[in-house]
Formats: sequence, C-alpha cells, structure tokens
Amino acid sequence: MNIGYPVGATRLDPDELEGLKFKHVTTRGQLDHLEQANIQEGLVWLRRYKSTDILNEGFVRELHKRLFGDVWVWAGTFRNTEKNIGIDPMQIGVQLRLLLDDTRFWVGNGTYEPLGAAVRFHHRLVYIHLFANGNGRHARIMADAILMKILKQEPVNWAGGYNLQAMNGRRKQYLQALRAADGGDIEPLMRFVSPD
Ligand SMILES: Nc1ncnc2c1ncn2[C@@H]1O[C@H](COP(=O)(O)OP(=O)(O)OP(=O)(O)O)[C@@H](O)[C@H]1O
Ligand SMILES: [Mg+2]
Repeated sequence: MNIGYPVGATRLDPDELEGLKFKHVTTRGQLDHLEQANIQEGLVWLRRYKSTDILNEGFVRELHKRLFGDVWVWAGTFRNTEKNIGIDPMQIGVQLRLLLDDTRFWVGNGTYEPLGAAVRFHHRLVYIHLFANGNGRHARIMADAILMKILKQEPVNWAGGYNLQAMNGRRKQYLQALRAADGGDIEPLMRFVSPD
C-alpha cells in the first residue's frame, strides 16, 4: 500500500500497517474514507454517552477505539513504537495520568477559562501522542467532549471551514501553533481556536 502522509502526521511502521482491517486499501484516499466513516459512528456513540466521567484513562482509550476500531486492530491501545512526534512510549501511561489529574484540577478549580483548559489539554494530549495514529483527531474530539460535557460550552471550530487533515493554510497555522505550545507559548493555539 502506498499511503502518502500529510505534513505533521504520524508515520506507521510495518507492524502497525499490518493492523489494518481492510486488506484491499491501496490509497490514502480510501483509508481516509474508511476512517471518516468510523469516526462518524464514534461521534454518534459519544453524543449518546451521558456520563461526565471522561477524564480517566479508560474513557480516553475507549473513545479512540470507538473512532478507529473498525479500521485498526490497535485502536484504543497505546503505541509501543517511537514516532516522529511524541514522548518515549514507555512514559505514556504515567504522563497521561498526570495530564488527566491536572485537567481535573483545572476544571474543578477554574484555573483557566473553559477554552484555555480545553486547549492546554489538547496540546498536551497530542504532545504525548498516545496511539500509533489518529492522535490529532482523537485529541480534538476529546477536547470538545470536555468543553461540551463537563464545561457546558460550545465545541471548538477546529477546521474553521477548511479540511484540517489536508495541507492548507489552516493546518499550517495549527501545526505552527502546536510547535509554539511545545516551546511553552500557548497563545498562538488560543488564537487559533478563538472565534474572530
Ligand atoms: N509539534 C507538534 N507538537 C504537538 N503535536 C503535534 C505536533 N505536530 C503535530 N502534532 C499533532 O499530531 C497530529 C498528527 O498525529 P496523527 O497522525 O497521529 O493524528 P491524525 O488524527 O491521524 O492526524 P490529523 O490531525 O491529520 O487528522 C496532528 O494533527 C497534531 O495534532
Ligand atoms: Mg495520521
């Protein structure tokens, strides 16, 4: 299979590609399509999920499985390979726990306004990079779930009318803002998600 990767995407290793449940896929377009259909079903599941108890490892993994589990056998399972993005795979469980603890604290204490908490959560989740693939989409949906279910806010308009999966000005801005956040400056990402 020849799947080209958009800039700022994770590359899969041969073992991970083995985990593709549809053996007939030959192009990136076909793969995107299958993933998109799966994500739609995952979003239906998420809408019906009434509990606000989502800041725990079980939910974070379950959500990834609901979004990608029809396509990838390893959906919902932490990666065990090094990637061009993300921390040492051995540290994923511990770092996720710290992030979830911090986020519960922010939410409980109103440390940041809702969007500020969701955006910081989003950045740290993609920075950890829990899974072999699907981290961007999963972490955007997870941030929206925090906003809607816990904080009773509107979701973020991530794509802003563009396709964030494809390379365009909007994705370029998004990746630049994430890199600024890697360096400790959250403001560009705040501007990115703030309605103008
Ligand atoms: N420098 C960076 N720092 C933190 N996160 C990053 C950085 N560069 C990219 N990312 C995140 O990693 C994501 C890509 O990872 P991955 O391919 O696993 O996600 P995806 O859901 O398949 O991709 P996409 O976001 O294109 O839908 C990007 O969308 C972004 O959220
Ligand atoms: Mg990807």
